[in-house]
Amino acid sequence: MKELKIETTLIVFDNVDELPEDVTKLMAVAMEARAKAYAPYSNFSVGAALLLDNGEVILGNNQENASYPSGLCAERTAIYYAGANFPDAKVLKMAITAGSRMQPTITPIPPCGACRQAIAEYEVKQDCPIEIYFMGETGKVVKSNSLADLLPLGFDKSFL
Ligand code: THU
Repeated sequence: MKELKIETTLIVFDNVDELPEDVTKLMAVAMEARAKAYAPYSNFSVGAALLLDNGEVILGNNQENASYPSGLCAERTAIYYAGANFPDAKVLKMAITAGSRMQPTITPIPPCGACRQAIAEYEVKQDCPIEIYFMGETGKVVKSNSLADLLPLGFDKSFL
């Protein structure tokens, strides 16, 4: 028997102005996307923006449904759009911002497990890390250098 220790290093920025300039801009696009989220049931709006290696910026937001499980998170809306429209492009960076309409959200909101799995698929496919930046509406921004750092022991095609 032996113990297996898994460590993750994340980088925390105090606010959006501390980010590299291109990421500040990408987060601004994610904020615009959040403002257009369709979230009448949870009142929790999420926006995501992706930077592709061909220079395209893709946005996504959560799309809810009266049949709750039929809705989709912002991150998957964005990454599936990228996969559908730019299948040969690599995703370099993803910026995520989330906020409740009930109270201000100042803590960084990480992507849910299902979104991590979906993003991991593209990271493995393109064989190049995707930088993930996530925040609330304001305040600190957390950076993960790779999706894999947010999803240790991930399941991928190598097991099939
Ligand atoms: N949501 C996202 O868009 N991304 C996540 O990573 C977590 C949750 C959405 C789904 C739902 O519309 C609302 O937030 C509340 O769960």
